[in-house]
Amino acid sequence: MHTELIESVSASHASELLVVFAADHGSADHPEPRLLSDEVALEQTTEFALANGEFKAEANEILLLHAPQGISAMRLLLVGVGKRSKLTPHVLGQAAGVAVRTAKPRSLRSLSIVFPSTELETTDVARAIGYAAQLADYDADTYRSDRKDRSVQKLTLVIPPLMDRTAVEAGFREGNILGESQNFTRSLVNEPGNRLTPTMLGQRAAAMCHENRLSCLVYGADKLHELKMGAFWSVAKGSDEPPALIVMRYEPEGGAQGPVVGLVGKGITFDSGGLSLKTAEGMEMMKYDMAGAAAMLGAMRAIAHLKPKVRVIGILCAAENMPSGKAQKPGDVQISMSGKSIEVMNTDAEGRLVLADGVVYAKQLGATHLIDAATLTGACVVALGKIRAGGFSNDEESWTRFANAAERAGEKFWRLPLDDEYRTLLKSEIADIKNTGGRYGGASTAAMFLKEFVGDTPWVHLDIAGCAWVEDQRAYLAKGPSGIGVPSITGWVQSFAAAEPTPEAVEPERPRESW
Ligand code: BES
Ligand code: MN
Ligand code: ZN
Repeated sequence: MHTELIESVSASHASELLVVFAADHGSADHPEPRLLSDEVALEQTTEFALANGEFKAEANEILLLHAPQGISAMRLLLVGVGKRSKLTPHVLGQAAGVAVRTAKPRSLRSLSIVFPSTELETTDVARAIGYAAQLADYDADTYRSDRKDRSVQKLTLVIPPLMDRTAVEAGFREGNILGESQNFTRSLVNEPGNRLTPTMLGQRAAAMCHENRLSCLVYGADKLHELKMGAFWSVAKGSDEPPALIVMRYEPEGGAQGPVVGLVGKGITFDSGGLSLKTAEGMEMMKYDMAGAAAMLGAMRAIAHLKPKVRVIGILCAAENMPSGKAQKPGDVQISMSGKSIEVMNTDAEGRLVLADGVVYAKQLGATHLIDAATLTGACVVALGKIRAGGFSNDEESWTRFANAAERAGEKFWRLPLDDEYRTLLKSEIADIKNTGGRYGGASTAAMFLKEFVGDTPWVHLDIAGCAWVEDQRAYLAKGPSGIGVPSITGWVQSFAAAEPTPEAVEPERPRESW
């Protein structure tokens, strides 16, 4: 979906579909909803529709008017945003998403959104609209022969002539980049195991990096042996499909001092459980067990466009977890890249095995701060449901940076505990650590296992098992792969960027006035 920004009086802007948001002001003297626009012509056109009580401007509620009088558009779509007092950029973004998803089934290829008039920061509103509109344009129907391919081709944001264009432009651009990158992630997560093997994931990563001028190296089993990645290989060896170790780098123009941020993703392209085989029910969903790796790919894409002044390394550990005569067995002891020995109690706890070597490699390559994303545990889904994803950290500052980024991105994470006591559950009789911690606290013991390999490096771990796949369709979002993590991880990386010195900052401090 292409986007553009136009400065115009909305009423005289010609389009197939003009979208205006309306809010419920909930006041006794103004019971009818009001437009989030100051244009008198729009108010007149919608006066009757708003006064008759049929449209209440509840969140995601729509009213479509054909051949509206007095304005240039062919159709006018009112989208409700709910209570005026509860308005946030995210609510406005969702309304933009509803507009896109209203246009799609009607085969309308372009739409124009009237920039809402509110007291909110225009940059934030523009970012939220661009982001949510891009997300709304995605449908997971790639393999349907009756696919309608009704994607919207052009979205125009119409801003009033006197508005600060640069502020809107900056937010809109960032939002669009984040939305497009997240859709890229979703398209990968949507691929079934036979159409996205570890090798193919490597090819997709290489193509994305090439397009966006990131460096990318894709290694196979030989490299795992060379690096002595015994934990990663123990998972990969059960499959006929070779593993892929994907290493991406982003270097800001002019170089950078300071932190090197490491992004590590779980890329199990299919998780059968291995010899600790999963039951048949729901096993088909384990095609999305590479959502962590896909989120990191989306974040790398966004970073390549947004160009923060910070060095970034992306490491994806891609493999298939399969049972076979070559597969590892419960009870096997593996020596990881770090040198630590692992007793594999359950071959279905494979994500932590591939990540254990991934984080150690990221540190070896110079990462000073780490973040990983993984569909790691069913226990996290039990704890938080499919509403919030789990977050863990060994460092308060890193967590605060992440929580702020997630808040701004409108993604829901919840911090779960990582107390030292959880480590006792991973004690092995015959090795340094075992890969499962028993029935209780499974999300925390899995995180604790990773912490063992991360060590003291500041680190954030995201368990996205419950939120990487959306089961219920929303008015502003298709069901299927969510792409969760892309904007939060990108925001977290941006938070490490060296700030450009601002004119105020270099200006010498003025002497204080005294009186
Ligand atoms: N990929 C699964 C976790 C998962 C569960 C992802 C549900 C998405 C939805 C992971 O590899 C796994 O199998 N974890 C086991 C660990 C257990 C054996 C300690 C689990 O959660 O049951
Ligand atoms: Mn598993
Ligand atoms: Zn898994």
